[in-house]
Amino acid sequence: MKIGVFDSGYGGLTILKEIRQRLPHYDYLYLGDNARNPYGSRSFEIVYEFTLQAVKALFERGCHLVVLACNTASAKALRSIQQQDLPLIDPAKRVLGVIRPTVEILPDISKSGHVGVLATPGTVKSRSYSLEIAKIAPEISVVEHACPMWVPIVENNEINTPGADYFIKKEIDVIMQKDPFIDTLVLGCTHYPLLLDNIRKFLPENVNVLCQGPLVAESLSQYLIRHPEIEERLSKNGSIKYLTTEHTEKFDSLASLFLDKQIESHTVAIP
Ligand code: DGL
Repeated sequence: MKIGVFDSGYGGLTILKEIRQRLPHYDYLYLGDNARNPYGSRSFEIVYEFTLQAVKALFERGCHLVVLACNTASAKALRSIQQQDLPLIDPAKRVLGVIRPTVEILPDISKSGHVGVLATPGTVKSRSYSLEIAKIAPEISVVEHACPMWVPIVENNEINTPGADYFIKKEIDVIMQKDPFIDTLVLGCTHYPLLLDNIRKFLPENVNVLCQGPLVAESLSQYLIRHPEIEERLSKNGSIKYLTTEHTEKFDSLASLFLDKQIESHTVAIP
């Protein structure tokens, strides 16, 4: 059985890349719901419905464990799927998110105790980051800020343009003005690592920028050590297959930007 990795579109590829580097021997199935993204501006109910359909599609195609490599889906759908749906679908299967693994490291790296989170409007509205951080380190002060233009910049491959720089500087300035003591900035959207060079240009040097990929990969690796009953069900041929709900041509061309290599995807209809 495979490990499924789901995102609304391309962003989850930044997570998949790190997971495969850390755990290369497993078999993976990636699904991007490109036909219906972005999720970031959609309601709780819709993100939940779409994410549940995607998880079921991955289970039906042989996945035993699914990583929601999308903050918006993790924020709005993970808990309901884990608590309500999984017991009915198959209690032996697992769905994991990306928010918890990202925040666990914060007490170790933030010296000032002031953390900023940049994410989609949906993730910010859910307050999932503030709530998760409060559970593990209530002393940390958190400012969450939405960057609605950043996903379209990535999805339209406008990364290295003056327009991108304008919108990136604008949001960085706002969050740093809200709390000038921020020393750690979490990129709480899986698309944002693609903008990392632009983001660093507009930040003071002492501010750490946290990308989720390596954190999620490490957390998954630890999870599989703690859960041999899941690990032993996973097949180990080192394979990867990409599925998209859109046409493959656009997916293949933009995915190569995220993965630094050419890939060949397949179109699926979900549900
Ligand atoms: N990749 C999604 C996330 O991490 C954002 C993309 C979208 O809005 O669909 O939140």
